[in-house]
Amino acid sequence: MSSPSLTTLPAWQALQTHAAVIGGQHMRELFAADPDRFARLSFSFGPIRADYSKNRITPETIGLLAELARARGVEAGRAAMFAGERINTTENRAVLHVALRNREERPMMVDGIDVMPEVRATRARLKAFSDKVRSGQWKGATDKWIKHIVNIGIGGSHLGPMFVADALKDFQKPDLSVAFVSNPDRAQLDEVLAPLDPANTLFVICSKTFTTAETTANADAARAWLTSRLGESAVAKHFAAVSTNVDAAVKFGIHPDAVFPMWDWVGGRYSVWSAIGLPVILACGFEAFDQMLAGAEAMDRHFETASLEQNLPVILALIGLWYTDFFDAPAVAVMPYDHRLKLFPFHLQQLDMESNGKGVTKDGTPVETKTGPVVFGGGGSDSQHSFFQLLHQSPRLIPCDFIIALKGADGSGPSRDLLMANALAQTEALMKGRKAVELADTPEGLRSHREFSGNRPSNTLLLDELSPYVLGMLIALYEHKVFVQGLIWGLNSFDQWGVELGKELAKSLVPVFFDPALIVNGPATAEGVLKARDSSTAGLALAYLQAKAQK
Ligand code: F6P
Repeated sequence: MSSPSLTTLPAWQALQTHAAVIGGQHMRELFAADPDRFARLSFSFGPIRADYSKNRITPETIGLLAELARARGVEAGRAAMFAGERINTTENRAVLHVALRNREERPMMVDGIDVMPEVRATRARLKAFSDKVRSGQWKGATDKWIKHIVNIGIGGSHLGPMFVADALKDFQKPDLSVAFVSNPDRAQLDEVLAPLDPANTLFVICSKTFTTAETTANADAARAWLTSRLGESAVAKHFAAVSTNVDAAVKFGIHPDAVFPMWDWVGGRYSVWSAIGLPVILACGFEAFDQMLAGAEAMDRHFETASLEQNLPVILALIGLWYTDFFDAPAVAVMPYDHRLKLFPFHLQQLDMESNGKGVTKDGTPVETKTGPVVFGGGGSDSQHSFFQLLHQSPRLIPCDFIIALKGADGSGPSRDLLMANALAQTEALMKGRKAVELADTPEGLRSHREFSGNRPSNTLLLDELSPYVLGMLIALYEHKVFVQGLIWGLNSFDQWGVELGKELAKSLVPVFFDPALIVNGPATAEGVLKARDSSTAGLALAYLQAKAQK
């Protein structure tokens, strides 16, 4: 059964009419007309203050968008997620990452079974294991303290923990380094391992499936590096793993005490709250991780219980969708003005684009509108000196998120003043622009070059500080934002079939390059396999094989 049309809904049509009116207005006028605009269009939730007044909206816009969200069943969808329903329909799975940060006694059910006892037991094991490693009770095979953690994973088993560990650098144990390897190009692993001593190195293999080609290649290489120096028996003391595929991890040689489970109801890009957070726990300690869970839990309660109009993730979702669908904005830019959050855009890319980069609705019919935007970004200061030109003067409209913590690693020192001044100046410039009449001293021929249209939207998130608690809130905020947008578009935000075809095609090319003897299905020779491909793929593959033969 196909779901009712999105664009024929009265709420959608009311928004189209409203967009035509707002489209003719400049934010300068909206600010001038309402001295209380900031108060009306900003929202504080605990340590996060969100200013969304520099958007092409009025309070009426939020009301109309909330009506659309209601008409698309956002409240019911939200309840279904918390109730553990199998809302990931194409994989027939529940979506219950919120259970991972449920620190109350509240049961969280999947198919009538409370998952919390297992979640709590795993948390307790993670704490015990990390305490042992950090205190030197868990030693390497030659009785040396573990001094280096190397996480091997990719996608959600890499981006989330890498971002969080980096953001919480101030909380890391000084004598325990942590590094992240995802790329099967040996250059990355070799670079990480070069200064390390296997005797005090612990590898954490993070893979929900334990079958991901890049991760297993790196895990095998890491294992070879270790065993060539310390022998086979050392594996048990120098490897830990996180996976739903516990048997595969144990088969790899990892000691069962160091294998931590996850569950099919945790999506990769939502998994940093699970045992996938192990490198963070090892580096920063369980208390810091638990505080991050507490922050996410606070955001969950807010998201679950607040009305749509007073709900921070919902508001950000609605504003984002407003530009995607009513202003044809192709992308969104995220700029943290804080070095510690520099990796956030990479985490968000997977979170948003893998969730909502979809062309069909849940029932398999083509979407009627644009869906998830391209997400890009980077540290605010650096980005100002690179892609901000396009944000200010390109005909494309790119809504922006600015994120800044009021206190930096050095407290509220002068470096914060400079960052804050620049972040505010950029949002002001995007909003106001500069008219030709304000360029009286500029030669006529240069005026259009120096003119800024303005009317370019941005949200600003002010964080009281960047503690583990606030970081947890921030990540959960964006998770729920993406979920709400997916609900309105009618998507399954929790599958990622779009990454599969390339994986399958690569699987058939690997033996051609690596070992033609491995070609077991289909044409029996490398030439045969390549003949079945298009001329471009075959031509490039042959060029690679020739170069390889000449070495
Ligand atoms: O290829 C995409 C993906 O499936 C992601 O969704 C996931 O986070 C990543 O690969 C890694 O998968 P795994 O944790 O199973 O190794």
